[in-house]
Amino acid sequence: MRTPLVAGNWKMNLQRTAAQDLAAGLAEQSGSFHGVEIAVFPPFVYLDVVHTALSGSSVRLGAQNVYWESPGAFTGEIAPEMLVDVGCRYVILGHSERRHILGETDADVFAKAKAALTAGLAPVICLGETLEQRESGQTQSVIETQFDGSIAELSADQFHQVTVAYEPVWAIGTGKNASPDQAEEVHADLRKLIANRYNAELAESTRILYGGSVKPGNAGDLLGQANVDGALVGGASLKLADFVAIIQAADSD
Ligand code: PGA
Repeated sequence: MRTPLVAGNWKMNLQRTAAQDLAAGLAEQSGSFHGVEIAVFPPFVYLDVVHTALSGSSVRLGAQNVYWESPGAFTGEIAPEMLVDVGCRYVILGHSERRHILGETDADVFAKAKAALTAGLAPVICLGETLEQRESGQTQSVIETQFDGSIAELSADQFHQVTVAYEPVWAIGTGKNASPDQAEEVHADLRKLIANRYNAELAESTRILYGGSVKPGNAGDLLGQANVDGALVGGASLKLADFVAIIQAADSD
């Protein structure tokens, strides 16, 4: 039985007071949900204040990126140990904005995943095809290549800590979500891929989140799919009422 995870990726949004208020509001409401795990991913500079605002609640904290080196002379980067130090449990890796805007490769994502796991962080690793790739029938092969390049060399023990997020690039921030059937098809394929690269038990226990224009209005149908184990939410995670409605839709209790 997989406990769903609803993860709020705040991206490069909000400033201190708004971040604090959103986290405090979420902490307050989170007590009503028992069959779902909740996590938020604020910008690095607000991790500390958000951690404080969440204290005493079950809402987990995560970062949106990390570097693969231990602390040292790497100007502008953040080490996994630092994220642990400010209370992070999770880290998002390989988000499509990092892959496509910042030029991150599968090899980068893999190096980050290994370093994050060594420090005790649980990576949420994103995969997804562009519209052009979908329209030319390459979805499955793109996902497989990304999985093999950024995940599959982790040991089964390491992979146990990984959450996979399917985020079709064409659905992110566009208001155009994948249909529940489209999401389910990719998620089911991903689960088969995990069984093939690892084993059936890990395939069964791994959470596969859907991300891309998840909103209160479509969350129920998407999360109702057998292989959709939660959501990675961007825009709608910035509005407390919307994010709470999505959590409600995911709550299996
Ligand atoms: P969106 O973003 O919900 O704003 O589409 C999702 C994501 O990028 O994780």
